[in-house]
Amino acid sequence: MSDKEILLSTDKICKVFTKNDGTKFTGCKDVSLQLYRGETLGLVGESGCGKSTFVRTIMGLHPATSGHIYFKGEEITTLAGEKRRQMAKHIQMIFQDPATAFNPKMRIRDIICEPLRNFAKVSDKEAEARAVDLLQQVELAPEIALRYPHELSGGQRQRVGIARALILEPEIIICDEATSALDVSVQDSIAKLLARIQKERGVSYIFICHDLALVSLISHRVAVMQNGSIVEELAGDKIMSAKHPYTRKLLDSVFTVQGNK
Ligand SMILES: Nc1ncnc2c1ncn2[C@@H]1O[C@H](COP(=O)(O)OP(=O)(O)O)[C@@H](O)[C@H]1O
Ligand SMILES: [Mg+2]
Repeated sequence: MSDKEILLSTDKICKVFTKNDGTKFTGCKDVSLQLYRGETLGLVGESGCGKSTFVRTIMGLHPATSGHIYFKGEEITTLAGEKRRQMAKHIQMIFQDPATAFNPKMRIRDIICEPLRNFAKVSDKEAEARAVDLLQQVELAPEIALRYPHELSGGQRQRVGIARALILEPEIIICDEATSALDVSVQDSIAKLLARIQKERGVSYIFICHDLALVSLISHRVAVMQNGSIVEELAGDKIMSAKHPYTRKLLDSVFTVQGNK
């Protein structure tokens, strides 16, 4: 990957939360990572270790306490207002539970087109055409455009989430536990879809997931986070043979669960 363009890089990102009682809590600490064009960077670690905090900081959903974030070499750490809004064209995020992420009163057509409408006037007819095109790309039937979120399965909703993330043609999509609420077979088909989209569009992913086998399958590289810091970075296909004690512990906890079945 070293000959490829670095799309996103972070330099010692720290996020410290100050609670209502004034006590401080470090969500992530000194996180320095690079994301190359067209690659999938897996991010793994125990629940509560700071994965979402880190990606939410990248998205500008909360300010970094210290450190720097660069998109194509330009610092975006403190972007605000219109400049921050424009970043949505480059970096999109897909969340765990599209059932709660979507407005239940909006048709799928309008959910998919909402990010576009934030930038341009789009008629219902145009919106429908764009939505149908994107539905096809995520392997859903065109009729779905006129349905409401509750009329879809979890897997279908997550495909709609992907279609919505694609409409602005971003270079980076951050998937924060995007497959975690789904059945294993559905997870697998979503992972395949993400891989196909990457092949066709060259989009990069940061893929957060607690299923290490899935992460290993989909990621070119994997970063392992413990207590807010990156403790190991390794090739995706090397995760199962990782040597770091914390990564081994993550792997062992998976095997224990499977062994108990
Ligand atoms: N807005 C917030 N205010 C205070 N603490 C937070 C906030 N968001 C997350 N945290 C804390 O930061 C830690 C890391 O959380 P999170 O990034 O959500 O972990 P992960 O995504 O790895 O499960 C947790 O202990 C969580 O309680
Ligand atoms: Mg999280």
